[in-house]
Amino acid sequence: MSTVILGIESSCDDTSAAVISDGILLSNVIAGQKVHEAYGGVVPELASRAHQQNIVPVVSEALRQAGISASDLSAIAFTRGPGLLGSLLVGTSFAKGMSIGLDIPLVDVNHLHAHLLSHFIKRTPEDETPEFPFMCLLISGGNSQIVVARSPFDMEIVGKTIDDAAGEAFDKCAKVMGLPYPGGPHIDRLAALGNPKAFRFSKPHIPGLDYSFSGLKTSFLYTLRDNLKEDPEFIEKNREDLAASLQATIIDILIDKLGKALKEYPVKHVAIGGGVSANSGVRKAIEEFCHRRGVRPWIPERAFTTDNAAMVAAAGYFKYLNKDFCDLSLPPYSRVTV
Ligand code: KG4
Repeated sequence: MSTVILGIESSCDDTSAAVISDGILLSNVIAGQKVHEAYGGVVPELASRAHQQNIVPVVSEALRQAGISASDLSAIAFTRGPGLLGSLLVGTSFAKGMSIGLDIPLVDVNHLHAHLLSHFIKRTPEDETPEFPFMCLLISGGNSQIVVARSPFDMEIVGKTIDDAAGEAFDKCAKVMGLPYPGGPHIDRLAALGNPKAFRFSKPHIPGLDYSFSGLKTSFLYTLRDNLKEDPEFIEKNREDLAASLQATIIDILIDKLGKALKEYPVKHVAIGGGVSANSGVRKAIEEFCHRRGVRPWIPERAFTTDNAAMVAAAGYFKYLNKDFCDLSLPPYSRVTV
């Protein structure tokens, strides 16, 4: 009999459900939430409400696309945290209800572990996966971490941001340029057309492997403020160059610490994950970095960079095989260290 895992993700503003059978992905359905665009950021209460509207149709569609019925499921894996508590509650309650109704085990998944384990989502049995131990640069709207994964259950954060995340740097700078939320993809698109050396923004001098992006944000703001005094159309005229220079600076900061981390933790495989790993410049820079350092790069499919349930099901599959089940009494959690 096959082991069939349903994954449920609801930690932020994407409702997603996915089915994995014996480690192979059968479906991955994601419903985004446009409602937040008008506010320039995710509004937690609106996110919870949208999850409630989306969760039944999203799970039904994931089962339909996988060609299975609920009675074929071996277990339900769900994101227990970290994330927005109200959003997590929707997925957690739904997963618990389904597990009770079907009388099958419940597997709780740490959202950040799931991002790392997204490299183990297989479309065919022949698909290759990273070798443990591997290093992962986890860059999203809420986190920027360098993690060493020694097994699917043993992950150590060796560096992290002390203030903003890389995605926040993209989004906040994009916002002051008047770009829609989330700004990361817009900066990516504009950066391809601009000169990355047109502007210089400050880079942090933080000891060790930790990141900082708040200084870059301030320096970006000052550049705009000073130039707007001279020319009110400064942003309009320099959109592409501003985006390219900002993106190049973020990439430099990311790669600099990753290089240091690889010296301290010499592994042979280096992966990226999280929403910012969809960035074209970041993907190219990681490929080049790994080539220079003689290590194997793992760049996720774009569909698996942002929040998705396929990675939750993949992480849940590891835990299921390990018989690591979750008690029905466990609540979701908003914050965590890996
Ligand atoms: O992992 P994710 O979906 O969830 C959160 O942590 O919320 O990451 C979202 C982040 C946002 O900051 C978004 O701007 C960024 O990922 N992002 C990008 C790109 N696509 C998404 N940043 C830069 N370039 C992109 N192409």
